[in-house]
Amino acid sequence: MGKKKIKIIINHAKIYGFIFKSNEIYNGLKSFYDYGPQGLEMKNNIKKFWWEYMVKYRSNIVGIETSILINKKILLASGHLKYFNEYFIINIINNKIYLIEDFLKKIKKKINNIKKIEKKFYYYYNKKKINKLNFFLKKIIIKNNLNKYFKWENIKKFNLMFKTKLNTLKYNKYIYLRPETAQGIYLNIKNIKNSNRMKIPFGIAQIGKSFRNEIISKQFIFRTKEFEQMEMQFFILPGEEKKWYKYWIKSRLKWHLFFNLGKKKYRIKKHKNLSHYSKFATDIEFKFINNYKELEGIHFRKNYDLKNHIKFSKKNLYFFNNKKKKKFIPYVIETSLGLDRMFYSIFCSSLKINKKRIYLKLPFFISPIKIAILPIVKKKKIIKLSKKIFNNLKYEFNIIYDENKSIGKRYKIQDSLGTPFCITIDNNSIINKTVTIRFRDTMKQIKYDINKLKIFFKKKFDISFFFKKNLY
Ligand code: GAP
Repeated sequence: MGKKKIKIIINHAKIYGFIFKSNEIYNGLKSFYDYGPQGLEMKNNIKKFWWEYMVKYRSNIVGIETSILINKKILLASGHLKYFNEYFIINIINNKIYLIEDFLKKIKKKINNIKKIEKKFYYYYNKKKINKLNFFLKKIIIKNNLNKYFKWENIKKFNLMFKTKLNTLKYNKYIYLRPETAQGIYLNIKNIKNSNRMKIPFGIAQIGKSFRNEIISKQFIFRTKEFEQMEMQFFILPGEEKKWYKYWIKSRLKWHLFFNLGKKKYRIKKHKNLSHYSKFATDIEFKFINNYKELEGIHFRKNYDLKNHIKFSKKNLYFFNNKKKKKFIPYVIETSLGLDRMFYSIFCSSLKINKKRIYLKLPFFISPIKIAILPIVKKKKIIKLSKKIFNNLKYEFNIIYDENKSIGKRYKIQDSLGTPFCITIDNNSIINKTVTIRFRDTMKQIKYDINKLKIFFKKKFDISFFFKKNLY
């Protein structure tokens, strides 16, 4: 069922201009995707909602955009060159590659006493005692008679970073594609503190591309090698981490729940396999098709990054505590969400298929096209009025005009694109100055005064109440 549903989703995304396989006419580039007109519009709507909630309507968070290519020294300081690795095994029996955590999941189903095994597994894994982990896993395989399914030599390691060369007359050095947007924020902390007079606690946010040379990248856009992140680093006084950690978990969950995809689809889970910079972390998980998987991470990074950047760059990135008359390095709570993964969570839960029809039940404010203007027939007067309505609404909403094909077919297309409202214009519209509004989700139709359309739709797409209720 899972695989079949993913195929349907991929197909729908392609046919209706949301997502295409990258490099498609040259047989595609595995694990890379392009966003089509509808996909881009939808992605921008998600970004806008995130930016408004995290930056625009908060006085203590500002946004930046930093470069994608970064210096090797940054990644030495941030620990990514040393620790940002993926561990995997190649199963000789079926020639399959398993990431080490996926391998644990795979054998979990076949063995007893899993809690004890899991505990030991994560003990070795988190401490990066990989030889011991290898030995331990092999012992479990033998003990549980699983030799006929699994056989491998060693656990292999792979660094996740992409690198390229910088060619100038002077240099021929490697530089790296950033694996997270966070580092650009740490590097600019002093600039921003000075330019925007920021006082602790404050946050810096960034939306941008990140790159990871993932070994296993399947499930459509869930895990890819090029993806976009929406991250925010919140700088706090040491000692206040518990308070802010709780605050950000709650706050981010509220943001997710506003998409109205179903409360039960979300789960808060303590992150077991901590990144090298994390002291503790929580995942907001989402039920993608069948399984709960990480959607967003909230991490307590302590002062790991700033401390190391001070050490490696020899620059003064300290702050001053006026009360204690002492310099200090702020602690950090990070919220980190993959935009493509967010897109996928919305897209796969919104695609509704029943006996009657297929429709994309996107939250209104995320829909790429908000309203479709559809003249019932191609009569001069009707077209003239339709275009007038189109021109009247186009500056407020992302709308389209379509006069081709039967009205039934046009409704079908708009349902598949996720357009929440269709307006049809007919002879009566000219006489009575009314149009028909069709609702995507219920297929209900109502007559409405042409002169009041703008007010009607403004109300439908207004989400300002969410910000007013949830931000102080
Ligand atoms: N700065 C912290 C950080 O990058 P992470 O847990 O490695 O933390 C954060 O990633 C989020 O980025 C994930 O929760 C996920 O939404 C997204 N993400 C990570 N790797 C991804 C990939 N290969 N493809 C798509 N999204 C990814």
